[in-house]
Parts: sequence; C-alpha cells; structure tokens
Amino acid sequence: MTVIRFSELCAQGKVAGKRVFIRADLNVPQDDAGHITEDTRIRASIPCIEMALQAGAAVMVTSHLGRPTEGDFQPADSLAPVAARMGELMGRTIPVVANWVDGVTVAPGQLVLLENCRVNKGEKKSNEELSKKMAALCDIFVHDAFGTAHRAEASTYGIAQFAPVACAGPLLAAEMDAISKALRAPKRPLVAIVAGSKVSTKLTILKSLAANVDQLIVGGGIANTFMLAAGLKIGKSLAEPDLLAEATAVIEAMKARGAAVPIPTDVVTAKTFAADAPATIKAAADVADDDLILDIGPQTAQALADQLKKAGTIVWNGPVGVFEFAAFENGTQVIAQAIAESSAFSIAGGGDTLAAIAKYGIEKQVGYISTGGGAFLEVLEGKTLPAFEVLERRAAG
Ligand code: 3PG
Repeated sequence: MTVIRFSELCAQGKVAGKRVFIRADLNVPQDDAGHITEDTRIRASIPCIEMALQAGAAVMVTSHLGRPTEGDFQPADSLAPVAARMGELMGRTIPVVANWVDGVTVAPGQLVLLENCRVNKGEKKSNEELSKKMAALCDIFVHDAFGTAHRAEASTYGIAQFAPVACAGPLLAAEMDAISKALRAPKRPLVAIVAGSKVSTKLTILKSLAANVDQLIVGGGIANTFMLAAGLKIGKSLAEPDLLAEATAVIEAMKARGAAVPIPTDVVTAKTFAADAPATIKAAADVADDDLILDIGPQTAQALADQLKKAGTIVWNGPVGVFEFAAFENGTQVIAQAIAESSAFSIAGGGDTLAAIAKYGIEKQVGYISTGGGAFLEVLEGKTLPAFEVLERRAAG
C-alpha cells in the first residue's frame, strides 16, 4: 500500500508554517453525564498532533463524536470533554472552535479542536461543496482516524480528494502496516480467532479468512453453529441453524486448502445464563437438551493454546466464552495467555477483545491492538477501506 506518510513530510521539512488539518477518531465512550469512560482513542491520536506541532504547523484537529443529526448541534454532541481530556494529557489548553467550515484562525505552533464534524450538513454523504470548503482550510490533510477509515464522509474522504496534499498520520499508518503484516504477507501458520454471538454478523469475515488462514478458531455462539454443522448437539445454546450450510461451506473450504476449523471437544455448560449459574465441564458429545454452552472446555482450550504457541501470525477478534462471568472465562483466559506467550506477530481488535486483553493484562504482549471497531472488521472481511483507497490514489498523483 503506497500512501504519503505525514512522518515523511515532517522529516522532509515540508510541514513548517503549514496549515495542517488532522482527522482523528476521538469517538470515545461517555457516561450519561458526558464523562469520558475510556480514553484510548484520545491517547492514540496525540502522537500525530505532537508530530505536527513539533514540525511547526498550525494544527486543526477534528473528529465525530456519536451519531448526531446534521445541522442540529446539541450540547451532548460537543467535543469539549475530549478537548479537556486531551488538554490534560498534552499539558496545554485546547480551544474548541464551533462553526468552522468557512474559516479557522490558527497560527503555527497553535492547536485547535474543530467541533464535532458530523454536525456539518453534508458530512455523512461526503458532499462535494463541504469537502472543498474543508480542503480549503488546509495545506496538508492528515487522515489519522483508523476507527473511521471504513466511512467515506466529507472529513475522511471528500477532503482527501481536494486538499493540496493528503497523507496518512502515524496511527493510520501503523494500523495499515500491522494489517499488511498479518494478512497480506503473514508468517505462517496464520491462525485467526473469530468469536462472537452470531455467524450472521461475521459470515463475510469467516468466508474471507477461510481463503487465507491455516487455522480458523471459532468461539462463542459462532462455535455453537459450527458444532451443529459438525453433527454435535448444543442443547439450548445460542446458534443460527439457518446458517448451517454456510458454516459447512466454511469448514469444507478450509479442508480443501489443507487448513482446519477446530471444533471444540469439550465445553463448559450451565442451565441458565447467569454469573452464579453452576458450571459443568463435559465432552462436546454429551451436551444435554437443556444445556447452554458458555465456554470451551479446558481440553479444547489447551489444544488451541498449543496451536497458538506454534503460530507465525495470529489475528484475534472476539472472546471464545462468556469471559465476563468467572465460571466461564477459562477459555478466553487460556487463549489470551497463549497469545501473550506466543512468538507470533499478533493483531487484535474489537471492543470485547480489547476488554479481554485489558482484563488479562496482556496489552504489552500483543503485537498490535487496533483502535478500529467496524473498520477492523471490514479489514478482516477483505474490503479495501475508503481511507486507504483515496490516500493511495492521491499518492499516485
Ligand atoms: C467507531 O466507534 O467504530 C468509529 O468511531 C466509527 O463510528 P461510526 O460507526 O458512528 O461511524
């Protein structure tokens, strides 16, 4: 993937005195009072901003926050709490500028946060007039919003078409590099873990990975559907029987390539879905009609851990059991530990996966933790994200 990198422009001295417009993804979770409950995306966006300031640019940063109605700004849509948190982290006051589309006053060495870009009329459909106005605000457009790289909106895509220079910020570039390392030129064996409640939401990912990976480990409700496809009983566990043919097709596609979808040999079951429900470990063949499968069993977890330790590359999306409940967390914990101990290059993404990584404290042992939710999933689906497409096109001249 050939794109212009902002770090290169800085190193070449092409940024000093320039107006730099950074599209970050500062879409962070907030509680009912508007307090930020998790600030990873703010922290991940700071290196690009610091890079621009150190290079002597006049810096404008914007992001969406939530899904506001265009043209109808509400106080809850404001990036003010983000500016306050970012200011704390950067040790400076960051002014928030409203109604900025027609002009922004910012001098070299200064940093301003442009209010929620999704409130601008025409943002979501990447309206050309809006995109051109945004492009006119800057000399250099920096796309550093991997979490929004799957959206073709005015502040992520339209502006990149019309800005004098359009390049990738360090976060976007790091995500791009990690994805290429894991999926385009992986050290093999390449093992993917795809877990979650439903096959239907991850079917395209399963199909796309089935053409590439050496082991496709499925977990959660997805594994239940695959167990059904393998002829096992799953009691009253969550599954999608109407997708059995699709699950079988994935298993067959993997077999045809000499690859495999490991089916659990043992499971942890309960009679109700509750944190205090008594857990029973049993062979996969012994699941009763009134059982709920809430985790993979210890034998399965160990077998998968052994494969992960031998892997060259690991892609992880989704916990394999109900890891929020202590009685059903063993599978996810063993997998997390195996990834941490493996010498493989690992890449992980998705909200639940990040929560599991944090719970088991393995952040430093995962090769790359993606800041993308939907964007990460679309990459796994094998799609070319609009951000990469437009930046490549601009780099080509
Ligand atoms: C996310 O949270 O996944 C990104 O910020 C994208 O948000 P969106 O789904 O509202 O476009």
